[in-house]
Amino acid sequence: MKAIAEKELYEKAAETMTLAYAPFSKFQVGAALLAKDGRVFTGVNVENSSFGGTICAERTAFVKAISEGCKEFTAIAIASSGGKAWPCGICRQFMQEFCSDDFQIITGDDADSLVVSTMKEMLPEGFKL
Ligand code: THU
Repeated sequence: MKAIAEKELYEKAAETMTLAYAPFSKFQVGAALLAKDGRVFTGVNVENSSFGGTICAERTAFVKAISEGCKEFTAIAIASSGGKAWPCGICRQFMQEFCSDDFQIITGDDADSLVVSTMKEMLPEGFKL
């Protein structure tokens, strides 16, 4: 990877995970999204009493970046209190809107056992208008 190593990005995700608001599932997730310009946007899952109002850590990070005018990305790292976490279906569709096929998705049980996948692997034949 370019400006920042996979491990470093994952460590940022793990660090931010403790800020998750997850009183219902108790499943804390942190994400660190690396933009092409080198900026890193973090996000956590934010749950709601009306469960459908919950937003995942990955989408939080994307929404933060996009609302700061940043729309080009290289990679996202995901850390969770339950070990390796893969993005849910909604998040895969959401990220595909802004990411090319070779965008990297990094997850793992810890910083020493990372697994790197691509957008194309996560969502083959994804829908785009
Ligand atoms: N969650 C995420 O934030 N990201 C994922 O990749 C998987 C699931 C959250 C949503 C919810 O707050 C909790 O984890 C349990 O599903």
